[in-house]
Amino acid sequence: MEPSEFWQLGDYAIVGELWSAPGRDLAASLDVADLDVVDLATGTGVTAIALAGEGARSVVGVDAAPELLAEAARRAAARDLDVTWIEADVASVPLPDRSADVVTSTFGLIFAADPGAALDECRRLTRPGGQIVFTSWAATGLFGQLRQTLSPYFPEAPEPWHETIAGIRAIVGPEAEVVERSFTLVVESPEAFVSQLERFSAPFVLGAEALGDRWPLARRDLHETITAAGDIGGDIDAVYRAEVAYLVTTFAA
Ligand SMILES: C[S@@+](CC[C@H](N)C(=O)[O-])C[C@H]1O[C@@H](n2cnc3c(N)ncnc32)[C@H](O)[C@@H]1O
Repeated sequence: MEPSEFWQLGDYAIVGELWSAPGRDLAASLDVADLDVVDLATGTGVTAIALAGEGARSVVGVDAAPELLAEAARRAAARDLDVTWIEADVASVPLPDRSADVVTSTFGLIFAADPGAALDECRRLTRPGGQIVFTSWAATGLFGQLRQTLSPYFPEAPEPWHETIAGIRAIVGPEAEVVERSFTLVVESPEAFVSQLERFSAPFVLGAEALGDRWPLARRDLHETITAAGDIGGDIDAVYRAEVAYLVTTFAA
């Protein structure tokens, strides 16, 4: 299945909001004022829009899924921010060499079929002295745990390269700087989280369909993992909160 077809399953505009904080945090942590930035696998543009809001000279958001780019364009227009949106594969971006001072990707580049080719494309797009920064879920964080919870149901699925520092350095190179960060996921309840994942998140929508009659068992296991990873409480409304670890990788062009 092509990435564009896959990522239009469910509704990323809804579920992506749950983990949009890392994109905004990344934009705030990079000093992009007066720099040219390209955000790869931008989806609904969370990170690209935040980078434009931080005063980047120019921002280009690239994604394979046209419906997500249309939503990104609506969001940027609503905030009166200027971002150029390009429909393309991350391994083949129709921009000249050295287009950007900074290339970013939040939980996007990691899905490229050929990560080496996607990383080479990042290097091609980045000017000398520039940097490439991407985020990925940590094996020890909630999303790593969710993948591990489902792995007995999908024994053929390969281990992801991007969940550990060693795995990332094996693909990017030993010079990659990898730091762990976290954000607080807030959802009404563990049940609400599982329900959002199975309805709106493409990997879970497809996983549920593939498992068919076995999905209720897998769903129960996911519910248990989510419940164990967070706390339910709050002063006014009881909500579920989990501190979710992810990795931020930075390297030079
Ligand atoms: C989990 S979403 C992340 C979106 C966004 N960066 C964010 O932080 O919300 C993954 C995105 O990667 C895009 N994507 C996956 N494979 C791609 C590829 N080979 N080329 C371009 N985009 C791709 C999908 O269309 C989707 O928008």
